[in-house]
Amino acid sequence: MVRNNWWQKAVVYQIYPRSFQDSNGDGIGDIPGIIQRLPYLKELGVQVIWLSPIYQSPNDDNGYDISDYRKILPEFGTMADVQEMISVAHQLNLKIMMDLVVNHTSDEHDWFQQSRLSRSNPYRDYYIWRDPVDGHEPNNWLSDFGGPAWEFDDKTQQYYLHLFSKKQPDLNWENPAMRHDIYDTMSWWLAQGVDGFRMDVINLISKQRGLPNDPNVDADNHGSSMTFVANGPKVHQYLQEMNSKVLSQHDVITVGETPGVTTADAMQYAGFDAHELQMIFQFEHTELDNSHEGLGKWSDERFKLVDLKKILSKWQNDLEGKAWNSLYWNNHDRPRVVSRFGDDSDKYRVISAKMLATTLHFMQGTPYIYQGEEIGMTNVNWSAISQYQDIDTLNAFDDLVNQQKRTTPEKMMTYVHHSSRDNARTPMQWDNTRNAGFTSGKPWLGVNDNYTTINVSESLANQQSIFYFYKKLIALRQQMSIIINGHYQLLDMADESVYAYRRTAQDSELLIISNFTDQVQTRNYSLDASAKLLISNYEDDQGDVLRPYESKVYFKDT
Ligand code: GLC
Ligand code: CA
Repeated sequence: MVRNNWWQKAVVYQIYPRSFQDSNGDGIGDIPGIIQRLPYLKELGVQVIWLSPIYQSPNDDNGYDISDYRKILPEFGTMADVQEMISVAHQLNLKIMMDLVVNHTSDEHDWFQQSRLSRSNPYRDYYIWRDPVDGHEPNNWLSDFGGPAWEFDDKTQQYYLHLFSKKQPDLNWENPAMRHDIYDTMSWWLAQGVDGFRMDVINLISKQRGLPNDPNVDADNHGSSMTFVANGPKVHQYLQEMNSKVLSQHDVITVGETPGVTTADAMQYAGFDAHELQMIFQFEHTELDNSHEGLGKWSDERFKLVDLKKILSKWQNDLEGKAWNSLYWNNHDRPRVVSRFGDDSDKYRVISAKMLATTLHFMQGTPYIYQGEEIGMTNVNWSAISQYQDIDTLNAFDDLVNQQKRTTPEKMMTYVHHSSRDNARTPMQWDNTRNAGFTSGKPWLGVNDNYTTINVSESLANQQSIFYFYKKLIALRQQMSIIINGHYQLLDMADESVYAYRRTAQDSELLIISNFTDQVQTRNYSLDASAKLLISNYEDDQGDVLRPYESKVYFKDT
Protein backbone atom coordinates (compact mmCIF):
# COMPACT_ATOMS: atom_id res chain seq x y z
CA MET A 1 0.00 0.00 0.00
CA VAL A 2 1.34 3.41 -0.97
CA ARG A 3 1.51 6.01 1.76
CA ASN A 4 2.14 9.62 1.20
CA ASN A 5 3.84 11.21 4.16
CA TRP A 6 6.17 14.17 3.62
CA TRP A 7 9.07 12.41 5.36
CA GLN A 8 8.87 9.56 2.86
CA LYS A 9 9.88 11.98 0.14
CA ALA A 10 12.48 13.81 2.19
CA VAL A 11 16.26 13.59 2.17
CA VAL A 12 17.92 14.22 5.52
CA TYR A 13 21.34 15.82 6.06
CA GLN A 14 23.16 15.09 9.31
CA ILE A 15 25.23 17.82 10.91
CA TYR A 16 27.78 17.03 13.60
CA PRO A 17 27.81 20.55 15.05
CA ARG A 18 31.24 20.39 16.68
CA SER A 19 32.87 19.76 13.31
CA PHE A 20 30.65 21.68 10.89
CA GLN A 21 31.51 25.40 10.99
CA ASP A 22 33.16 27.51 13.66
CA SER A 23 32.05 31.15 13.67
CA ASN A 24 34.13 32.67 16.50
CA GLY A 25 37.61 31.20 16.20
CA ASP A 26 37.53 28.94 19.26
CA GLY A 27 38.07 25.88 17.06
CA ILE A 28 34.63 24.41 17.80
CA GLY A 29 31.76 24.38 15.36
CA ASP A 30 28.69 26.27 16.59
CA ILE A 31 25.09 27.30 15.88
CA PRO A 32 25.91 30.65 14.23
CA GLY A 33 28.24 28.62 11.98
CA ILE A 34 25.35 26.35 11.05
CA ILE A 35 23.12 29.36 10.30
CA GLN A 36 25.79 30.71 7.91
CA ARG A 37 25.77 27.43 6.02
CA LEU A 38 22.03 26.85 5.72
CA PRO A 39 21.95 28.32 2.19
CA TYR A 40 24.56 25.73 1.21
CA LEU A 41 22.23 22.94 2.36
CA LYS A 42 19.36 24.59 0.53
CA GLU A 43 21.49 24.56 -2.62
CA LEU A 44 22.12 20.84 -2.13
CA GLY A 45 18.36 20.39 -1.98
CA VAL A 46 17.79 18.41 1.22
CA GLN A 47 14.55 18.88 3.17
CA VAL A 48 15.55 18.00 6.74
CA ILE A 49 18.58 18.63 8.93
CA TRP A 50 19.39 16.29 11.78
CA LEU A 51 21.63 17.89 14.40
CA SER A 52 23.75 15.72 16.66
CA PRO A 53 23.27 16.93 20.27
CA ILE A 54 23.74 20.62 21.04
CA TYR A 55 22.55 20.50 24.66
CA GLN A 56 24.45 21.31 27.84
CA SER A 57 27.03 18.58 28.31
CA PRO A 58 30.43 17.96 29.92
CA ASN A 59 31.39 16.37 26.58
CA ASP A 60 32.57 13.03 27.83
CA ASP A 61 31.01 11.57 24.65
CA ASN A 62 30.79 14.77 22.58
CA GLY A 63 27.33 15.80 23.68
CA TYR A 64 25.76 12.33 23.87
CA ASP A 65 26.06 12.84 27.63
CA ILE A 66 23.48 15.52 28.37
CA SER A 67 23.46 17.43 31.65
CA ASP A 68 20.50 19.70 30.85
CA TYR A 69 18.00 18.93 28.10
CA ARG A 70 16.69 22.49 27.99
CA LYS A 71 20.00 24.35 27.83
CA ILE A 72 22.44 24.79 24.99
CA LEU A 73 26.13 24.03 25.39
CA PRO A 74 27.72 27.51 25.60
CA GLU A 75 30.44 26.46 23.12
CA PHE A 76 27.66 25.98 20.58
CA GLY A 77 25.77 29.19 21.33
CA THR A 78 22.64 30.30 23.12
CA MET A 79 18.96 29.44 23.05
CA ALA A 80 18.49 32.66 21.06
CA ASP A 81 20.91 31.31 18.43
CA VAL A 82 18.90 28.10 18.27
CA GLN A 83 15.67 30.05 17.82
CA GLU A 84 17.28 32.00 15.02
CA MET A 85 18.55 28.80 13.41
CA ILE A 86 15.05 27.30 13.49
CA SER A 87 13.51 30.40 12.04
CA VAL A 88 16.09 30.84 9.25
CA ALA A 89 15.80 27.13 8.43
CA HIS A 90 12.02 27.36 8.24
CA GLN A 91 12.21 30.41 5.97
CA LEU A 92 14.30 28.24 3.65
CA ASN A 93 11.81 25.40 3.98
CA LEU A 94 14.28 23.23 5.86
CA LYS A 95 13.11 21.21 8.84
CA ILE A 96 15.16 20.61 11.98
CA MET A 97 15.38 17.22 13.63
CA MET A 98 16.96 17.12 17.09
CA ASP A 99 18.93 14.28 18.59
CA LEU A 100 17.11 12.90 21.61
CA VAL A 101 19.36 11.01 24.00
CA VAL A 102 17.13 9.46 26.65
CA ASN A 103 18.56 6.03 27.30
CA HIS A 104 21.00 7.83 29.59
CA THR A 105 21.98 11.29 30.80
CA SER A 106 25.30 12.72 31.91
CA ASP A 107 26.32 11.96 35.49
CA GLU A 108 26.36 15.76 35.81
CA HIS A 109 22.64 16.02 35.10
CA ASP A 110 20.80 17.38 38.13
CA TRP A 111 18.67 14.20 38.27
CA PHE A 112 21.75 12.06 38.73
CA GLN A 113 23.38 14.48 41.17
CA GLN A 114 20.23 14.11 43.31
CA SER A 115 19.96 10.41 42.68
CA ARG A 116 23.39 9.60 44.02
CA LEU A 117 22.88 11.61 47.25
CA SER A 118 20.95 8.95 49.14
CA ARG A 119 18.99 5.78 48.62
CA SER A 120 15.82 7.61 49.59
CA ASN A 121 16.23 10.65 47.36
CA PRO A 122 13.13 11.19 45.16
CA TYR A 123 15.40 10.96 42.09
CA ARG A 124 17.05 7.71 43.23
CA ASP A 125 14.76 5.69 40.97
CA TYR A 126 15.43 7.83 37.93
CA TYR A 127 18.48 5.58 37.44
CA ILE A 128 19.29 1.91 37.87
CA TRP A 129 20.99 1.17 41.19
CA ARG A 130 21.81 -2.27 42.59
CA ASP A 131 23.62 -3.77 45.55
CA PRO A 132 26.94 -5.51 44.95
CA VAL A 133 26.74 -9.28 44.56
CA ASP A 134 29.54 -11.00 46.52
CA GLY A 135 31.42 -7.73 46.49
CA HIS A 136 31.20 -7.46 42.69
CA GLU A 137 29.11 -5.97 39.92
CA PRO A 138 25.43 -7.00 40.03
CA ASN A 139 25.76 -8.80 36.68
CA ASN A 140 28.26 -9.37 33.87
CA TRP A 141 27.06 -6.71 31.44
CA LEU A 142 29.75 -4.90 29.46
CA SER A 143 29.75 -1.27 28.45
CA ASP A 144 29.81 -0.52 24.75
CA PHE A 145 32.88 1.62 25.38
CA GLY A 146 34.78 -1.20 27.14
CA GLY A 147 34.84 -2.56 30.69
CA PRO A 148 31.93 -3.44 32.99
CA ALA A 149 28.63 -1.60 32.58
CA TRP A 150 28.48 -0.92 36.32
CA GLU A 151 30.16 1.73 38.46
CA PHE A 152 30.33 1.55 42.24
CA ASP A 153 29.34 4.73 44.05
CA ASP A 154 30.97 5.06 47.48
CA LYS A 155 28.45 7.38 49.01
CA THR A 156 25.51 4.98 48.94
CA GLN A 157 27.47 1.74 48.49
CA GLN A 158 25.61 0.63 45.37
CA TYR A 159 26.43 0.22 41.70
CA TYR A 160 24.71 2.18 38.91
CA LEU A 161 24.27 0.90 35.37
CA HIS A 162 25.93 2.62 32.39
CA LEU A 163 25.76 0.86 29.03
CA PHE A 164 28.12 3.54 27.67
CA SER A 165 30.77 5.51 29.62
CA LYS A 166 30.56 5.75 33.39
CA LYS A 167 29.64 9.39 32.86
CA GLN A 168 26.49 8.21 31.03
CA PRO A 169 24.26 6.53 33.66
CA ASP A 170 21.24 4.72 32.20
CA LEU A 171 17.83 6.14 33.00
CA ASN A 172 15.26 3.89 34.64
CA TRP A 173 12.32 3.79 32.23
CA GLU A 174 10.31 1.73 34.71
CA ASN A 175 9.81 4.98 36.61
CA PRO A 176 6.66 6.81 35.38
CA ALA A 177 7.81 10.16 36.86
CA MET A 178 11.02 9.95 34.85
CA ARG A 179 9.11 9.08 31.67
CA HIS A 180 6.77 11.97 32.27
CA ASP A 181 9.74 14.37 32.57
CA ILE A 182 11.18 13.12 29.29
CA TYR A 183 7.85 13.52 27.47
CA ASP A 184 7.57 17.04 28.87
CA THR A 185 11.02 17.88 27.55
CA MET A 186 10.09 16.57 24.11
CA SER A 187 6.92 18.66 24.06
CA TRP A 188 8.94 21.66 25.15
CA TRP A 189 11.31 21.25 22.21
CA LEU A 190 8.42 20.81 19.80
CA ALA A 191 6.99 24.05 21.17
CA GLN A 192 10.32 25.71 20.27
CA GLY A 193 9.55 24.76 16.68
CA VAL A 194 11.69 21.70 16.02
CA ASP A 195 10.28 19.22 13.52
CA GLY A 196 11.24 15.84 14.90
CA PHE A 197 13.70 13.61 16.70
CA ARG A 198 16.44 11.13 15.98
CA MET A 199 16.37 8.91 19.06
CA ASP A 200 19.71 7.69 20.34
CA VAL A 201 19.89 3.93 21.13
CA ILE A 202 16.18 4.04 21.82
CA ASN A 203 15.75 0.25 21.77
CA LEU A 204 17.93 -0.07 24.89
CA ILE A 205 15.54 1.75 27.22
CA SER A 206 13.74 -1.29 28.62
CA LYS A 207 16.00 -3.64 30.57
CA GLN A 208 15.27 -7.34 31.10
CA ARG A 209 13.37 -8.09 34.28
CA GLY A 210 15.81 -9.02 37.05
CA LEU A 211 18.81 -7.87 34.97
CA PRO A 212 20.03 -11.40 34.18
CA ASN A 213 23.59 -12.15 33.06
CA ASP A 214 24.39 -11.74 29.38
CA PRO A 215 25.11 -15.27 28.13
CA ASN A 216 27.23 -13.90 25.27
CA VAL A 217 29.78 -12.17 27.43
CA ASP A 218 33.12 -13.85 27.16
CA ALA A 219 35.40 -12.52 29.85
CA ASP A 220 38.40 -11.88 27.64
CA ASN A 221 36.45 -10.49 24.72
CA HIS A 222 36.07 -6.88 23.75
CA GLY A 223 32.33 -7.31 23.83
CA SER A 224 29.35 -5.16 24.60
CA SER A 225 26.04 -6.14 26.12
CA MET A 226 24.15 -3.85 23.82
CA THR A 227 22.65 -6.59 21.67
CA PHE A 228 21.59 -8.57 24.71
CA VAL A 229 19.90 -5.58 26.30
CA ALA A 230 18.32 -4.40 23.04
CA ASN A 231 14.57 -4.78 22.39
CA GLY A 232 13.70 -5.35 26.03
CA PRO A 233 10.30 -6.43 27.36
CA LYS A 234 8.59 -3.04 27.66
CA VAL A 235 10.23 -1.03 24.89
CA HIS A 236 7.12 -1.06 22.70
CA GLN A 237 4.89 -0.11 25.59
CA TYR A 238 7.13 2.91 26.32
CA LEU A 239 7.34 4.00 22.70
CA GLN A 240 3.59 3.72 22.27
CA GLU A 241 3.15 5.81 25.37
CA MET A 242 5.61 8.40 24.02
CA ASN A 243 3.78 8.35 20.74
CA SER A 244 0.37 8.87 22.27
CA LYS A 245 1.49 11.53 24.78
CA VAL A 246 3.77 13.50 22.47
CA LEU A 247 4.50 12.44 18.91
CA SER A 248 0.98 11.81 17.70
CA GLN A 249 0.06 15.41 18.53
CA HIS A 250 2.52 16.79 15.97
CA ASP A 251 3.38 16.29 12.32
CA VAL A 252 6.96 15.23 13.02
CA ILE A 253 9.71 13.07 11.58
CA THR A 254 11.12 10.39 13.88
CA VAL A 255 13.87 7.85 13.48
CA GLY A 256 15.12 5.53 16.17
CA GLU A 257 18.68 4.33 16.43
CA THR A 258 18.25 0.60 17.06
CA PRO A 259 21.28 -1.68 17.20
CA GLY A 260 20.56 -5.41 16.99
CA VAL A 261 17.18 -5.37 15.24
CA THR A 262 15.66 -7.77 12.74
CA THR A 263 13.19 -6.78 10.07
CA ALA A 264 10.48 -8.31 12.27
CA ASP A 265 11.50 -5.95 15.07
CA ALA A 266 11.38 -3.09 12.58
CA MET A 267 7.72 -3.84 11.88
CA GLN A 268 6.99 -3.29 15.55
CA TYR A 269 9.03 -0.12 15.90
CA ALA A 270 8.27 1.48 12.59
CA GLY A 271 5.34 -0.35 11.04
CA PHE A 272 2.95 2.04 9.34
CA ASP A 273 0.32 1.18 11.92
CA ALA A 274 2.57 0.59 14.90
CA HIS A 275 2.13 4.03 16.49
CA GLU A 276 5.73 4.12 17.66
CA LEU A 277 8.35 5.57 15.30
CA GLN A 278 8.41 6.32 11.58
CA MET A 279 11.78 4.78 10.79
CA ILE A 280 14.67 3.06 12.48
CA PHE A 281 18.38 2.81 11.75
CA GLN A 282 19.41 -0.83 11.45
CA PHE A 283 23.12 -1.68 11.58
CA GLU A 284 23.56 -4.94 9.75
CA HIS A 285 25.29 -3.51 6.71
CA THR A 286 27.69 -1.52 8.89
CA GLU A 287 28.89 -4.67 10.60
CA LEU A 288 29.92 -6.57 7.47
CA ASP A 289 33.59 -5.84 7.98
CA ASN A 290 33.61 -6.70 11.68
CA SER A 291 36.57 -8.63 13.06
CA HIS A 292 36.78 -12.38 12.64
CA GLU A 293 38.96 -12.46 15.75
CA GLY A 294 36.23 -11.35 18.13
CA LEU A 295 37.36 -7.72 18.28
CA GLY A 296 34.02 -6.33 17.13
CA LYS A 297 34.36 -3.39 14.80
CA TRP A 298 38.13 -3.24 15.41
CA SER A 299 39.25 -4.81 12.17
CA ASP A 300 40.63 -3.85 8.78
CA GLU A 301 38.70 -6.39 6.77
CA ARG A 302 36.94 -5.50 3.55
CA PHE A 303 33.20 -6.17 3.17
CA LYS A 304 31.91 -8.64 0.56
CA LEU A 305 29.47 -7.26 -1.99
CA VAL A 306 27.24 -10.34 -1.90
CA ASP A 307 26.72 -9.87 1.85
CA LEU A 308 25.90 -6.21 1.35
CA LYS A 309 23.33 -7.08 -1.33
CA LYS A 310 21.77 -9.75 0.85
CA ILE A 311 21.30 -7.40 3.78
CA LEU A 312 20.09 -4.33 1.94
CA SER A 313 17.74 -6.44 -0.20
CA LYS A 314 16.29 -8.15 2.85
CA TRP A 315 15.48 -4.76 4.38
CA GLN A 316 13.99 -3.54 1.09
CA ASN A 317 11.84 -6.63 0.61
CA ASP A 318 10.71 -7.29 4.16
CA LEU A 319 9.60 -3.74 4.92
CA GLU A 320 7.86 -2.97 1.64
CA GLY A 321 4.30 -1.84 2.19
CA LYS A 322 4.57 -2.43 5.93
CA ALA A 323 7.23 -0.12 7.30
CA TRP A 324 9.65 2.50 6.04
CA ASN A 325 13.41 2.17 5.64
CA SER A 326 16.07 4.67 6.50
CA LEU A 327 18.89 4.58 3.95
CA TYR A 328 22.40 5.49 5.06
CA TRP A 329 26.04 4.66 4.41
CA ASN A 330 27.67 6.53 7.26
CA ASN A 331 27.14 8.85 10.23
CA HIS A 332 29.16 10.35 13.08
CA ASP A 333 29.88 6.86 14.45
CA ARG A 334 30.95 5.16 11.22
CA PRO A 335 33.89 5.49 8.85
CA ARG A 336 33.54 7.51 5.66
CA VAL A 337 31.58 5.67 2.98
CA VAL A 338 33.99 6.28 0.10
CA SER A 339 36.88 4.84 2.15
CA ARG A 340 34.88 1.90 3.40
CA PHE A 341 32.63 0.73 0.57
CA GLY A 342 34.29 2.58 -2.32
CA ASP A 343 37.81 3.54 -3.29
CA ASP A 344 39.35 6.71 -1.87
CA SER A 345 42.44 6.69 -4.12
CA ASP A 346 42.90 9.85 -6.22
CA LYS A 347 42.01 7.85 -9.28
CA TYR A 348 38.63 6.51 -8.16
CA ARG A 349 37.41 8.61 -5.26
CA VAL A 350 35.00 10.77 -7.24
CA ILE A 351 33.64 8.05 -9.46
CA SER A 352 33.18 5.53 -6.64
CA ALA A 353 31.54 8.12 -4.36
CA LYS A 354 28.96 8.76 -7.09
CA MET A 355 28.49 5.04 -7.60
CA LEU A 356 27.73 4.54 -3.91
CA ALA A 357 25.35 7.48 -3.90
CA THR A 358 23.42 6.07 -6.85
CA THR A 359 23.23 2.60 -5.34
CA LEU A 360 21.63 3.90 -2.15
CA HIS A 361 19.51 6.80 -3.40
CA PHE A 362 17.41 4.69 -5.75
CA MET A 363 16.22 2.42 -2.96
CA GLN A 364 12.95 2.67 -1.07
CA GLY A 365 13.27 4.67 2.12
CA THR A 366 14.43 8.04 3.38
CA PRO A 367 18.10 8.75 2.54
CA TYR A 368 20.42 10.29 5.12
CA ILE A 369 23.55 12.15 4.01
CA TYR A 370 26.30 12.67 6.58
CA GLN A 371 28.15 15.99 6.42
CA GLY A 372 31.02 15.85 3.94
CA GLU A 373 29.68 12.76 2.19
CA GLU A 374 28.36 15.03 -0.55
CA ILE A 375 31.91 16.17 -1.37
CA GLY A 376 33.51 12.75 -0.94
CA MET A 377 35.39 13.33 2.32
CA THR A 378 37.58 10.37 3.30
CA ASN A 379 38.85 8.61 6.41
CA VAL A 380 41.86 10.10 8.14
CA ASN A 381 45.06 8.12 8.75
CA TRP A 382 46.89 9.68 11.66
CA SER A 383 49.97 7.81 12.79
CA ALA A 384 49.69 8.39 16.55
CA ILE A 385 46.82 7.35 18.78
CA SER A 386 47.32 10.65 20.64
CA GLN A 387 45.92 12.48 17.60
CA TYR A 388 42.55 10.79 18.20
CA GLN A 389 39.99 12.08 20.69
CA ASP A 390 37.02 9.73 20.48
CA ILE A 391 36.38 8.01 23.82
CA ASP A 392 35.42 4.78 22.08
CA THR A 393 38.69 4.69 20.09
CA LEU A 394 40.89 5.60 23.05
CA ASN A 395 39.22 3.09 25.39
CA ALA A 396 39.46 0.33 22.81
CA PHE A 397 43.15 1.02 22.19
CA ASP A 398 43.85 0.88 25.90
CA ASP A 399 41.74 -2.23 26.40
CA LEU A 400 42.91 -4.29 23.41
CA VAL A 401 46.54 -3.21 23.31
CA ASN A 402 47.55 -2.28 26.86
CA GLN A 403 45.24 -4.33 29.09
CA GLN A 404 44.25 -7.46 27.20
CA LYS A 405 47.19 -7.52 24.80
CA ARG A 406 44.95 -8.96 22.09
CA THR A 407 46.77 -7.09 19.35
CA THR A 408 49.86 -4.99 18.71
CA PRO A 409 49.85 -1.18 18.65
CA GLU A 410 50.75 -1.25 14.93
CA LYS A 411 47.89 -3.59 14.05
CA MET A 412 45.50 -1.64 16.24
CA MET A 413 46.36 1.56 14.35
CA THR A 414 45.28 -0.09 11.10
CA TYR A 415 41.97 -0.94 12.81
CA VAL A 416 41.67 2.64 14.03
CA HIS A 417 42.26 3.92 10.49
CA HIS A 418 39.53 1.61 9.27
CA SER A 419 36.92 2.02 12.00
CA SER A 420 37.47 4.95 14.35
CA ARG A 421 34.57 7.34 14.81
CA ASP A 422 37.02 10.22 14.38
CA ASN A 423 37.14 9.38 10.66
CA ALA A 424 33.72 11.00 10.46
CA ARG A 425 34.43 13.77 12.93
CA THR A 426 37.34 15.64 11.34
CA PRO A 427 36.21 19.18 10.49
CA MET A 428 34.08 19.84 7.45
CA GLN A 429 36.26 20.88 4.51
CA TRP A 430 34.88 24.14 3.16
CA ASP A 431 37.78 25.51 1.10
CA ASN A 432 41.54 25.30 0.64
CA THR A 433 42.49 28.05 3.08
CA ARG A 434 44.04 27.27 6.47
CA ASN A 435 42.03 24.70 8.48
CA ALA A 436 39.81 24.13 5.46
CA GLY A 437 37.82 27.26 6.29
CA PHE A 438 36.37 25.47 9.31
CA THR A 439 37.94 27.79 11.87
CA SER A 440 40.30 30.75 12.09
CA GLY A 441 41.62 29.27 15.36
CA LYS A 442 42.94 25.86 16.31
CA PRO A 443 40.46 23.11 15.37
CA TRP A 444 39.38 20.87 18.29
CA LEU A 445 40.24 17.82 16.15
CA GLY A 446 42.75 17.76 13.29
CA VAL A 447 41.66 18.61 9.76
CA ASN A 448 42.23 15.92 7.15
CA ASP A 449 45.27 16.92 5.06
CA ASN A 450 43.43 16.33 1.83
CA TYR A 451 41.30 19.47 2.34
CA THR A 452 43.40 21.33 -0.22
CA THR A 453 41.77 19.28 -2.97
CA ILE A 454 38.63 17.91 -1.31
CA ASN A 455 36.46 20.84 -0.25
CA VAL A 456 33.11 22.53 -0.78
CA SER A 457 34.37 25.48 -2.71
CA GLU A 458 36.10 23.23 -5.25
CA SER A 459 32.93 21.14 -5.47
CA LEU A 460 30.67 24.11 -6.09
CA ALA A 461 32.95 25.38 -8.85
CA ASN A 462 32.96 22.08 -10.71
CA GLN A 463 29.78 20.93 -12.46
CA GLN A 464 31.10 17.34 -12.50
CA SER A 465 31.58 17.24 -8.73
CA ILE A 466 30.12 14.73 -6.30
CA PHE A 467 28.10 17.62 -4.85
CA TYR A 468 26.14 18.24 -8.06
CA PHE A 469 25.65 14.52 -8.46
CA TYR A 470 23.98 14.35 -5.04
CA LYS A 471 21.98 17.41 -5.90
CA LYS A 472 20.66 15.66 -8.97
CA LEU A 473 19.81 12.49 -7.04
CA ILE A 474 17.88 14.50 -4.46
CA ALA A 475 16.02 16.39 -7.17
CA LEU A 476 15.10 13.16 -8.99
CA ARG A 477 13.55 11.78 -5.80
CA GLN A 478 11.38 14.88 -5.57
CA GLN A 479 10.25 14.43 -9.17
CA MET A 480 9.76 10.69 -9.60
CA SER A 481 7.33 8.80 -7.44
CA ILE A 482 8.75 5.48 -8.61
CA ILE A 483 11.90 6.23 -6.58
CA ILE A 484 9.75 6.53 -3.51
CA ASN A 485 7.24 3.77 -4.03
CA GLY A 486 8.53 1.42 -6.73
CA HIS A 487 8.86 -2.25 -5.90
CA TYR A 488 12.49 -3.35 -5.36
CA GLN A 489 13.90 -6.42 -7.03
CA LEU A 490 17.53 -7.52 -6.75
CA LEU A 491 19.17 -9.01 -9.85
CA ASP A 492 21.90 -11.67 -9.71
CA MET A 493 22.38 -12.06 -5.97
CA ALA A 494 25.54 -14.14 -6.54
CA ASP A 495 27.34 -11.54 -8.66
CA GLU A 496 30.39 -10.57 -6.59
CA SER A 497 31.22 -7.42 -8.52
CA VAL A 498 28.06 -5.71 -9.69
CA TYR A 499 25.04 -4.60 -7.67
CA ALA A 500 22.05 -4.41 -10.00
CA TYR A 501 18.41 -3.97 -9.05
CA ARG A 502 15.13 -2.96 -10.54
CA ARG A 503 12.38 -0.71 -9.25
CA THR A 504 8.99 -1.26 -10.80
CA ALA A 505 5.78 0.73 -10.64
CA GLN A 506 2.48 0.43 -12.47
CA ASP A 507 3.58 2.31 -15.57
CA SER A 508 7.34 2.59 -15.38
CA GLU A 509 10.54 0.88 -14.42
CA LEU A 510 14.06 1.72 -13.27
CA LEU A 511 17.18 -0.39 -13.68
CA ILE A 512 20.12 0.49 -11.43
CA ILE A 513 23.54 -0.99 -12.22
CA SER A 514 26.66 -0.39 -10.10
CA ASN A 515 30.10 -1.82 -10.65
CA PHE A 516 31.70 -2.10 -7.18
CA THR A 517 35.17 -2.94 -8.55
CA ASP A 518 38.09 -1.14 -10.18
CA GLN A 519 37.93 -3.64 -13.08
CA VAL A 520 35.94 -3.54 -16.27
CA GLN A 521 32.94 -5.87 -16.06
CA THR A 522 30.69 -6.97 -18.87
CA ARG A 523 27.05 -7.71 -18.10
CA ASN A 524 23.93 -8.00 -20.18
CA TYR A 525 20.66 -6.99 -18.52
CA SER A 526 18.55 -7.38 -21.69
CA LEU A 527 17.83 -3.72 -21.83
CA ASP A 528 14.66 -2.68 -23.63
CA ALA A 529 15.19 -0.41 -26.65
CA SER A 530 12.88 2.20 -25.12
CA ALA A 531 14.93 2.50 -21.92
CA LYS A 532 16.56 5.89 -21.46
CA LEU A 533 19.68 6.61 -19.46
CA LEU A 534 18.55 8.70 -16.49
CA ILE A 535 21.81 9.31 -14.65
CA SER A 536 25.36 7.97 -14.83
CA ASN A 537 28.77 8.71 -13.35
CA TYR A 538 30.53 8.46 -16.73
CA GLU A 539 30.04 10.83 -19.63
CA ASP A 540 29.01 8.26 -22.19
CA ASP A 541 27.28 4.89 -22.16
CA GLN A 542 29.09 1.77 -23.38
CA GLY A 543 26.17 -0.59 -23.04
CA ASP A 544 27.17 -3.94 -21.56
CA VAL A 545 30.66 -2.74 -20.70
CA LEU A 546 30.89 -1.40 -17.16
CA ARG A 547 34.01 0.63 -16.47
CA PRO A 548 35.60 0.79 -12.98
CA TYR A 549 32.99 1.89 -10.45
CA GLU A 550 30.58 2.77 -13.23
CA SER A 551 27.02 3.25 -12.10
CA LYS A 552 24.03 4.03 -14.24
CA VAL A 553 20.28 4.10 -14.09
CA TYR A 554 17.84 3.47 -16.92
CA PHE A 555 14.22 4.52 -16.97
CA LYS A 556 11.41 3.33 -19.16
CA ASP A 557 7.66 3.68 -19.44
CA THR A 558 5.95 0.32 -19.48
C1 GLC B 1 24.73 6.41 19.87
C2 GLC B 1 25.40 7.63 19.31
C3 GLC B 1 26.85 7.60 19.72
C4 GLC B 1 26.91 7.62 21.22
C5 GLC B 1 26.08 6.51 21.84
C6 GLC B 1 25.84 6.78 23.29
O1 GLC B 1 25.21 5.24 19.34
O2 GLC B 1 25.22 7.70 17.94
O3 GLC B 1 27.58 8.66 19.16
O4 GLC B 1 28.24 7.50 21.64
O5 GLC B 1 24.81 6.40 21.26
O6 GLC B 1 25.00 7.87 23.46
CA1 CA C 1 32.92 28.25 17.91
